[in-house]
Amino acid sequence: MGDVTTGLILSQIAQHATEAAAIASARLRGFGRKNDADQAAVDAMRRSFETAPFSGKVVIGEGEIDEAPMLYIGEELGAGGLKTDIAVDPLEGTKLCASDAPNAMTVVALAPTGGLLHAPDMYMDKLAIGPGYPQGIIDLDLSPSENVKRLAKARDVPVNAIRACLLDRPRHEHIIEELRSLGAGIRLIPDGDVAGVFWTTEALRSGVDIYFGSGGAPEGVLAAAAIRCAGGQMQARLKPENEQEEQRARAMGRDVYAKLTLDELVPGDVVFAASGVTHGSMFEGVHFEGPHAHVETLVWDSFTKRKARVRSIHPQG
Ligand code: FBP
Repeated sequence: MGDVTTGLILSQIAQHATEAAAIASARLRGFGRKNDADQAAVDAMRRSFETAPFSGKVVIGEGEIDEAPMLYIGEELGAGGLKTDIAVDPLEGTKLCASDAPNAMTVVALAPTGGLLHAPDMYMDKLAIGPGYPQGIIDLDLSPSENVKRLAKARDVPVNAIRACLLDRPRHEHIIEELRSLGAGIRLIPDGDVAGVFWTTEALRSGVDIYFGSGGAPEGVLAAAAIRCAGGQMQARLKPENEQEEQRARAMGRDVYAKLTLDELVPGDVVFAASGVTHGSMFEGVHFEGPHAHVETLVWDSFTKRKARVRSIHPQG
């Protein structure tokens, strides 16, 4: 199967899955029931994969088989065809959805088998920028200030023209303090670091130039898929917090604390899709209008280099 065909098929499957999950979880926006909203998204996404024309295997999912009845790691889905690795976050920002706050979304990345890092469920340090910079300009081993200074120099702007995005967490206080004393701008987000990373890929629109900090490793791989499609740069490092997590990380067969490059996170071509659940700065949330649900989805495909923004209308069941 050629690259174009692969990209088109996987794009359709990914879009269908994120749209289905977005509609299902949007019905539960603002009711304070994050687990119900998440479950609705999981059910809808799984149903969509069941009949999809691929032979998919979940590599980033809802958890191990004993923790998650659906979309568990290793679950095989699809109605045959292209052998595909599936990475999902059926509802990214469960709390955002439960409180009808901005930027909850549904996310899928699909790649031919072996095309996505099987990252265990633990924290991961992330550093990302969008396209247009010299290769190798950012480095997780450098300080946050040094990374920002390098961006500013490459853009020929003062450091206060650079805006960083981080999750608003006590564990990031030292980075926030360092960037504030440097004079860089900071956007603190309550949740949702997939959005935080992919904002860097459309910096003019989003106002975010660089992403820093730790969040979920599964979310890191999904975000890396967006960076791969956009031609940006990303590095990451797993952050196991106990012996059990360290063992899980070691099971990946590599140095647990080694820096992960974009080529290790997402080694080849990939499709990334995300649909808005609540209204956000990158796309609209689901609108229910009469008998229809209106959904906005980004479908990015590194096979064909296509970046689509799709507004689709679905009859409500
Ligand atoms: P959920 O959608 O699972 O609630 O995750 C939201 C999120 O903010 C992720 O985007 C992020 O990677 C992770 O949680 C950060 O974890 P923590 O809240 O423990 O800092």
